Amino acid sequence: MSLILNFPIQQVPTAINRDLISRYNLSGPRYTSYPTALQFRDDFTVADYQDALARLKPETPLSLYLHMPFCATLCYYCACNKIVTKDRSKSGTYIEYLKREIALHAKTLGRKPKVKQMHWGGGTPTFLSHPEMAAVVKTLHQHFDFAPRDEGEYAIEIDPRSIQSDTLAFLASLGFNRISLGVQDFDERVQRAVNRIQSFEQTEQAVLQSRANGFRSLNIDLIYGLPFQTEESFRHTLERVLELNPDRLSIFNYAHLPTHFKPQQAIPTYALPSPEEKLRIMEYTVGFLTRSGYAHIGMDHFAKPDDELAIAQREGKLQRNFQGYSTHGDCELLSLGVSAISQISDSYFQNVKDLDSYYAMLDQHKLPLWRGVKLDEDDRIRRAVIMQLICHFHLEFAKIESGFGIVFRDYFKRELERLQEFVDDGLLLVHDEGMEVTPLGRLLIRNICTTFDRYLSDMAEGRFSRLI
Ligand SMILES: C[S@@+](CC[C@H](N)C(=O)[O-])C[C@H]1O[C@@H](n2cnc3c(N)ncnc32)[C@H](O)[C@@H]1O
Ligand code: SF4
Repeated sequence: MSLILNFPIQQVPTAINRDLISRYNLSGPRYTSYPTALQFRDDFTVADYQDALARLKPETPLSLYLHMPFCATLCYYCACNKIVTKDRSKSGTYIEYLKREIALHAKTLGRKPKVKQMHWGGGTPTFLSHPEMAAVVKTLHQHFDFAPRDEGEYAIEIDPRSIQSDTLAFLASLGFNRISLGVQDFDERVQRAVNRIQSFEQTEQAVLQSRANGFRSLNIDLIYGLPFQTEESFRHTLERVLELNPDRLSIFNYAHLPTHFKPQQAIPTYALPSPEEKLRIMEYTVGFLTRSGYAHIGMDHFAKPDDELAIAQREGKLQRNFQGYSTHGDCELLSLGVSAISQISDSYFQNVKDLDSYYAMLDQHKLPLWRGVKLDEDDRIRRAVIMQLICHFHLEFAKIESGFGIVFRDYFKRELERLQEFVDDGLLLVHDEGMEVTPLGRLLIRNICTTFDRYLSDMAEGRFSRLI
């Protein structure tokens, strides 16, 4: 019997009710890693990092992430690691240190590793001047062996408010072939409430520039759950976004943690959509985008069926990491810049979070490592289960059993008992051979994943955003 039922997504049942929401609207991670960053330990050392690197096979290609923390203005909702400043000289200093970090990593690796994928995120990478971006790329090419532009995936996050008329042409000349545009919402009332005024024309200009310069893939970021959003208002935003014909859409669930992210306190709480409204928005979004020809990739991503993300999902090769979903499972992730997180040989490492410490450590010729974690066997098993569910919405027990030498039903006896609630609520089907998340369950996939998270019960409520 085949387990893979593959529900047509149009058949999303409308069983979302108050009772379900009150029981499932807890806090939980987004699982861009497992264990999550809360498990990273301060006593993780450069020696641990070197040990992880030493276990890398020389032929293993790298995926590079570069964190560019600066932004010219503050969006109140923002939960990214960023520094808001009007002082343009800050990025000049930053890239001098970033170049040092690149060279230090290359020295630690002891060779010129192959790079198949690169992503510049932030903050706002386009805060950097064109010569600053060129200087970083030049240093990278001195130390890493990049696949040609038509083979590799080289992406950059762009704030359409921060580009000039030639920026996309310039980025193409540096080798970038994918862009991701921050939009969030086109509704003016929503934009005013979050302090991000961005016209449709500004976004359209960035899209036109990217098409004119041969960018292979265009992603647009939206957020649902922002103040004054309704199903109706978000429908308008989605319709306008589709006029721009993006290849991918990231539609993030607004993470509202005003005690952690102080600027979020400027957001009027009364104007936030209720959990019911948020679920209606997401339900509408899934239906609308799938009817418009997009595939639903994992929890917050959509892609055209011929996009590499959708292909990777169909072929069972989709991965999840700190940039969201990714197609390059064969690469190890090396991340550079303040607060950046790497994933190498079953370990996670994070750089120091503040600029002063970052600069001070590099002045002492030290890798600016802050903390990390080395996965044990149980972490690896649970990570495989969580990543399989969050990327593919189904799981075959036999695959986990053969990968890790366990009997799934014995190893996860307690978890399977706890999953019964999801089964009773129509979110999950559990069979003799595995499990399948239903269309309704896809909207609550983070809840299902938390069942397999060994650490979650030890954590205080309030460290993560609401699951709905
Ligand atoms: C680094 S920003 C994108 C690039 C650029 N800084 C910009 O805003 O255009 C990354 C994305 O994270 C998302 N984001 C930021 N804060 C968020 C929050 N509190 N909840 C959910 N998504 C959030 C937004 O969609 C944003 O576009
Ligand atoms: S959303 Fe983007 S531009 Fe706005 S503050 Fe966050 S990182 Fe900066």
